[in-house]
Amino acid sequence: MIEEKVEGVLGHFVPAKDAHIQACLSQRVESMRSNGFETIEIRPGFPNFRRREMDMSCDLLGKTLAFPLLVSPITGGGRLSRKINVNLAVAAEELGIAMAVGSQRPMLEGRASADSYMLREFSPTILLLANLGLVHVRLGRDYLLKAVESIGADGIILYVNPLHEILQADGEEDFSGVLDMLGGILIDFPYPVLLKEVGFGMAQSIVEWAAGQKIRGIDVAGLGGTNWARIEGIVQKKDHTLFEELGTQTRDAVVSARSVLRADQELIASGGIRTGVDMAKAFGLGASIVGMALPFLSWAAKSAEEVISGVNRLREELEVVMWFSGSRTPKELYKKLAVAP
Ligand SMILES: Cc1cc2nc3c(=O)[nH]c(=O)nc-3n(C[C@H](O)[C@H](O)[C@H](O)COP(=O)(O)O)c2cc1C
Repeated sequence: MIEEKVEGVLGHFVPAKDAHIQACLSQRVESMRSNGFETIEIRPGFPNFRRREMDMSCDLLGKTLAFPLLVSPITGGGRLSRKINVNLAVAAEELGIAMAVGSQRPMLEGRASADSYMLREFSPTILLLANLGLVHVRLGRDYLLKAVESIGADGIILYVNPLHEILQADGEEDFSGVLDMLGGILIDFPYPVLLKEVGFGMAQSIVEWAAGQKIRGIDVAGLGGTNWARIEGIVQKKDHTLFEELGTQTRDAVVSARSVLRADQELIASGGIRTGVDMAKAFGLGASIVGMALPFLSWAAKSAEEVISGVNRLREELEVVMWFSGSRTPKELYKKLAVAP
């Protein structure tokens, strides 16, 4: 999501995307605060069905996923991006899960080769999402259209990251008017448009705005997982510890968004989701699908097989919780929980 040059952790100038990836692969980049899920208890139920009747599939934006999981936007354009994205794409096709590419700005500005974003040959059937920042709507409808169509995506997810921008070297300092511009583009944009945060929790004012627009879904990307104050502190060698606590924990971000979004809008839960039990809790709070970035990055840096076995582990864990709670599908987990104050 950042493409400017900064001094990287490798000790010399590297594109920021590579510096972020290096930091994420080699240091602790997760929030000091939890995602709040430890206060959630899944209630026991009775599985009045056969184990093999459990069904993890779900429909998302017109496609059927075998498992309700999205590879959140991570990368594209950087030195390591091609390998990471190809491993993710190969695994996503095999697993029947959805995937988003990382910010396409370097590609669209001709500062990075497009090959790390071109994934359709590896994942011809998956739900694939393009990715840009909300501020890029200033560049117009055709810019967004190009992001989607140039990679054969099914839609686009725009990141809304004001806190991250102000902590960056040369970050965006003007978000004024962008929601109005997006509202105009949405009127006849031919592909689904979703919004996401990047790990501080989507502002409730944006969720409320989206509920009145042709936005197809919100990924709350709450506090409790990858923390961009921490990452920027590492790559810029600055102390951003003070800002690490800012944000809405994923638990609260999901609950608030659920209370506002329309029934026909997707609610994606992400931000520190790491296990099948976390996934079950997200469905219990009303998420339609779950997203993860950091675990996918570390698996994909190794191999596609590592990604596949990581997701298979999640599937087994989620299955145990569904059985325990008497839920044949992830949707049936809704409200089968108690949240401690
Ligand atoms: C290395 C890395 C790069 C990321 N780049 C992007 C990006 O380009 N666009 C975006 O929307 N989000 C980006 N994100 C944010 C993730 O999509 C996600 O919202 C966030 O990491 C929280 O999820 P997690 O706790 O599972 O990592 C990135 C995350 C990581 C770890």
